[in-house]
Amino acid sequence: MGTELHETAKALVAEGKGILAADESDGTIKKRFDSIGVESTEDNRRAYRELLFTTEGAEEYISGVILFDETIRQSSADGTPFPKVLESRGIIPGIKVDKGAKPLALANGETVTEGLDGLRERLEDYYELGARFTKWRATYSIGDGRPSEYCVWTNAHALARYAALSQESGLVPIVEPEVLMDGGHTIEESSKASGRVLQAVYTELHDQRLDLYGTLLKPNMVLSGYDASDRAGVDEVAEATLDVLSRHVPAAVPGIVFLSGGQTDEDATVHLNAMNARGPHPWELSFSYGRALQAPALKAWGGDPANVEDAQKAFYRRAKFNGAARTGSYAPEMETAAA
Ligand code: 13P
Repeated sequence: MGTELHETAKALVAEGKGILAADESDGTIKKRFDSIGVESTEDNRRAYRELLFTTEGAEEYISGVILFDETIRQSSADGTPFPKVLESRGIIPGIKVDKGAKPLALANGETVTEGLDGLRERLEDYYELGARFTKWRATYSIGDGRPSEYCVWTNAHALARYAALSQESGLVPIVEPEVLMDGGHTIEESSKASGRVLQAVYTELHDQRLDLYGTLLKPNMVLSGYDASDRAGVDEVAEATLDVLSRHVPAAVPGIVFLSGGQTDEDATVHLNAMNARGPHPWELSFSYGRALQAPALKAWGGDPANVEDAQKAFYRRAKFNGAARTGSYAPEMETAAA
């Protein structure tokens, strides 16, 4: 089992490749569809995901796709189940298994991620459906004494319980502790909160017997809050993020796959590129972007089947640019070159 987990984890961070997060829950995909004026019906969700999964050439830059429970059970128009569509192109199917961040009892507006009850049985089902990796997202906010130690440790414990169950089922866990960048905090505050969170996560992963070589980490980048008046630039973000990761993430972890977390698609690419340009690092530094890979494609599609090809082109471009950022070879001029 160890070897299979190690191989899957390594394949997900293969050179020049990263992960597409297409695991938006019903509520989140509705928000995305609202932004383009499209109704969130099961068939529209299916059609949109099919567009992404069948983009020609995407497999050059996409190693794996994170699916949602509904999506892993859906099929392309010709009746091929989505996990098979992905596998046939050498893309590894994965699955979001948490049930969302819920209010943490007796805490001041903080959350704990739920979904552990019955998880072992759900994981067996997902493995049968073709998934080879999983994702669980915990969230933390900054400000007014947050994140509290209570929130930090409760989520770290749950993340490790989820991760241990995943490994037992032959699935690589992507451990996602996301420190949210909403608010006016400084990059130093972001750095402190992110470091605290990661330290607790790796303490719990160790105590709960995780084989780190068969895991991936999906963290936030260390940024100034989105409402901060004087936001840190690219070099500062790259250096602060690398500093936090070096202090708190063991070298046994094969890869770090960042979330984009509301950065513009170009910022997410530029930041990843700047970090890789400062390599080599003990871990692969890659992406597991949702919005930053999908935003231009979603807009180009607009719910109209006639726009599928344009949307696929837009998705392919972002995949390619982020693929380049994996080796520090992205240049902003690539954005203006012909599609
Ligand atoms: P974003 O890249 O849009 O933050 O989404 C990644 C993700 O999977 C969040 O859980």
